[in-house]
Amino acid sequence: MLSNKGFDLWADDYDKSVDIYDNNESYPFAGYKMILNEIYNRILMNSYKSILDVGFGTATLISKLYNNGYEIYGQDFSKRMIEIAQEKMPNANLFNGDISNGLVDELLLHKYDVIIATYSLHHLTDLKKVTFLKSLIKQLNEGGVIYIGDVAFNSRNEHDKCMKEVGDEWDKDEFYFVIDEFLHYFPEIKFEKFSNCSGLITLKK
Ligand SMILES: C[S@@+](CC[C@H](N)C(=O)[O-])C[C@H]1O[C@@H](n2cnc3c(N)ncnc32)[C@H](O)[C@@H]1O
Repeated sequence: MLSNKGFDLWADDYDKSVDIYDNNESYPFAGYKMILNEIYNRILMNSYKSILDVGFGTATLISKLYNNGYEIYGQDFSKRMIEIAQEKMPNANLFNGDISNGLVDELLLHKYDVIIATYSLHHLTDLKKVTFLKSLIKQLNEGGVIYIGDVAFNSRNEHDKCMKEVGDEWDKDEFYFVIDEFLHYFPEIKFEKFSNCSGLITLKK
């Protein structure tokens, strides 16, 4: 599992390395740009105002929304990622904090129309994901939505099949969404597949 220091070291090369995996349609970033574009377009189609991004990284998605005039909030635990993101979005409200401890106090003071988490929640165990997602739902305005783009599968069989195909490249320290196993906690969860290893998860208030 990468620590905040590990992400600090990865930050300056992050966009380049994601691009390589995405362009080769390979795990873990196959479908990355398609998923981010889909989230972007869905947000633009609605009359949302405030957006929270958890684990925003280099702000690839959220900075495009910032440039469209949305009120942007975010939490990440990598100092370098925060510096890169803040440079792209000088007026965004960005905070340093570990999501495994929940949202920082400053972010709990607000409610959001949209909460985004792309490729960040797989750093939490499934139980921590459930607790965190329940807390995020409470932070949504009426009619609000959570978009999660990540490595994700419909079933454990699908997950294991991909793990076999990927072989040694598979990251055993990450915990990917298996949607079947989240239905019990979030009966309304929606999953759309974007590649053999990724998809878009939607949760509504
Ligand atoms: C793989 S990057 C994804 C960045 C961006 N959302 C994207 O889609 O490109 C994961 C991001 O989540 C952050 N992150 C990972 N674990 C975290 C944690 N426990 N608390 C806060 N941020 C975390 C990392 O610092 C990094 O910026």
